[in-house]
Amino acid sequence: MTEKDFILTTTDFSTLNAVNYTWKTPSNIALVKYWGKKEHQIPENTSISFTLDACFTLTTLEFSKKQNESGNFEIYFEGEKKDDFKPKIATFFERIEKYCPFLTEYDFVIRSRNSFPHSSGIASSASGMSALALCVMSIERSLSTEMTDDYFYKKASFLARLGSGSACRSIKGSIVVWGNHKEINESSNLFGVEFPDEVHSNFKNFHDTILLVDEGEKQVSSTLGHELMFNHPYAQERFNQAEENISKIKEILKSGDLKAFVNIVESEALTLHSMMMTSNPYFILMKPNTLKIINKIWKFRKETNLNLCFTLDAGANVHLLYPENEKEAVNSFVVSELIQYCQNNHYICDRIGFGAKQV
Ligand code: PMV
Repeated sequence: MTEKDFILTTTDFSTLNAVNYTWKTPSNIALVKYWGKKEHQIPENTSISFTLDACFTLTTLEFSKKQNESGNFEIYFEGEKKDDFKPKIATFFERIEKYCPFLTEYDFVIRSRNSFPHSSGIASSASGMSALALCVMSIERSLSTEMTDDYFYKKASFLARLGSGSACRSIKGSIVVWGNHKEINESSNLFGVEFPDEVHSNFKNFHDTILLVDEGEKQVSSTLGHELMFNHPYAQERFNQAEENISKIKEILKSGDLKAFVNIVESEALTLHSMMMTSNPYFILMKPNTLKIINKIWKFRKETNLNLCFTLDAGANVHLLYPENEKEAVNSFVVSELIQYCQNNHYICDRIGFGAKQV
């Protein structure tokens, strides 16, 4: 599919009535990371993620015929009016207008809330933008009754990508690939697709316990981080490595080789952070407690031979990934050894989920 396939050709919006749509969409955690993009949110490399379950955004989009020429929208987050969220949403609407021209005819009210604390350092852009994209697609579906589910979800992912790259992986499926990779059928730079191959039972019900090391706003936005991959001395090598890691993880997901999984996932997390440390300006998002946790995990693995591993987002929090049959051992390890490194002892127990749901 090309970008043109996502432009709505209908020009009669008279059947659109003022209603509202609500979607609940999950966050996701990348195993092979996206870091670096081209124009129009096209990724420099393929990424793959687990869809989460407990960390989600619930968004209602209300719309009504616009009252004046310029149009208007309001945002409420957890019941409070949030004008400081407006610029990001306005940019999103501007980017998707070409594909959803009906947007210019309406006024909107967005009401959103997260299942996780806003200031927890967990990025809400993936779940937030995917929820909004799905609400917009529900409007569009009411205009074109012949729309297939496949098109609905692909376009939702396409739109979500224009809001925040990783958001395109928060629409459908438990394991999602974004980026055109020669070994992944139907994969695309324009939207995320469900990992199409067989997945070993070791990866069913996988857990992600998120240790909140540093609750608070990120010091460096991912927008700036991606920009710093332009002219980065190691960028090309990194992009090649990510493509190779996708090939490897594809085999690992099939074979169920947990040791190889641990190796690739931790290497990806540290590579992401080494890209930050070697950009110019350089920066460090890990905190002393992030490193303490990582060292504890390595020690735990050595002592127990279990398959607990960590990954990191663009922040200091640590995601602990482990299979279902190791959950008791890992939970007691977390409680006895790791929560001391979490801010206010906060952590979130999450697991692999199944994608967005209309409410
Ligand atoms: O979607 P963005 O632009 O916020 O970038 C997210 C980048 C990482 O979370 C660090 C990695 C990823 O693939 O999710």
